[in-house]
Amino acid sequence: MPMTIDLALIGGTGLYRFPGLEDVSEHVLETPWGKPSDVIVSGRLGSCRVAFLARHGRGHDILPHKVNYRANLHALKQIGAIRVIGVNAVGGIRGDMGPRVVVVPDQIIDYTHGRITSFCDAEGVEVRHIDFSEPYTQALRRDLLDAASRAGVAVVDGGCYGATQGPRLETRAEIARMRRDGCDLVGMTGMPEATLARELDLDYACLALVANWAAGCGDEGEISLDEIFANLEQVTAQVPPIITAMLSPS
Ligand code: HPA
Repeated sequence: MPMTIDLALIGGTGLYRFPGLEDVSEHVLETPWGKPSDVIVSGRLGSCRVAFLARHGRGHDILPHKVNYRANLHALKQIGAIRVIGVNAVGGIRGDMGPRVVVVPDQIIDYTHGRITSFCDAEGVEVRHIDFSEPYTQALRRDLLDAASRAGVAVVDGGCYGATQGPRLETRAEIARMRRDGCDLVGMTGMPEATLARELDLDYACLALVANWAAGCGDEGEISLDEIFANLEQVTAQVPPIITAMLSPS
C-alpha cells in the first residue's frame, strides 16, 4: 500500500525509534528478498509523513553482515519512500571527525565481503551497471547540510566512509591502511545499503554519527564500548532537530 512518504530513515546503532512522530502506524512487510529488519513505523512530523526502519531491528539483534539490506530498501520503496537517509554510527579517522561529530560523507570505499550487493544477483534478472561515481544523492546531502545549518547543528560536509565487515572493530594496521586509502570514517553498515538504494532509484544520503576514534586514532589504547554508547547517546540527539528542520519549510 504505497502512501506519500516525505522522508524515510534507516536508524543505526543507538537509534531504534524516531521521537516525536504522531499518528503512528506499523507496517509488517514482506519483499521478494525476504523480511526487512523490523516493522516499518510511519508517522507524521508536522505536516510531513516519515517512515522509520531500525537497521539492526528495534532490539538490535541483527549483525551488520546479517542485515537483509535488499529487503530493507525494497520495503521502504514498497511503502512509497523516495528519499532515504541512512543514519550510521561510525569511528572517526580524520582529525576533525572525533567522537560526537556529525558528518555527511560524500564518498565510500567498500571493504566488506560476502554480502549480497545487487538486486541483479538473482536468476533471470538483467544485469544493470549503475553509475556510482557519486554514491550519495547530492541534492539530498545538500538538503541535510542546509537543514543542519538552520537547526544550528554543526556538521562536517564531506568525507570518505570506509565500510568494513565487522562485527569486530578494526586493527590499528587496518585503520592505518584505510587512512592511506583516503578514508575519513569507518563503519560496518554503509554498504551495500547505498548501492542498493541507487539500484532502486531512491535518493540516498548518509548521516554519520561518530561514536569513537577508530583504532589507533585517539589517545586511549583500547576502544571501550561504554564510551561508544555514551557518545552515541549524545550525538544521536542531534538527529531529530536536523530531520525536523529538513521537513519544515525554510
Ligand atoms: N569501526 C567500525 N564501525 C564502527 C566503529 C569503528 O570504530 N565505531 C562505530 N561503528
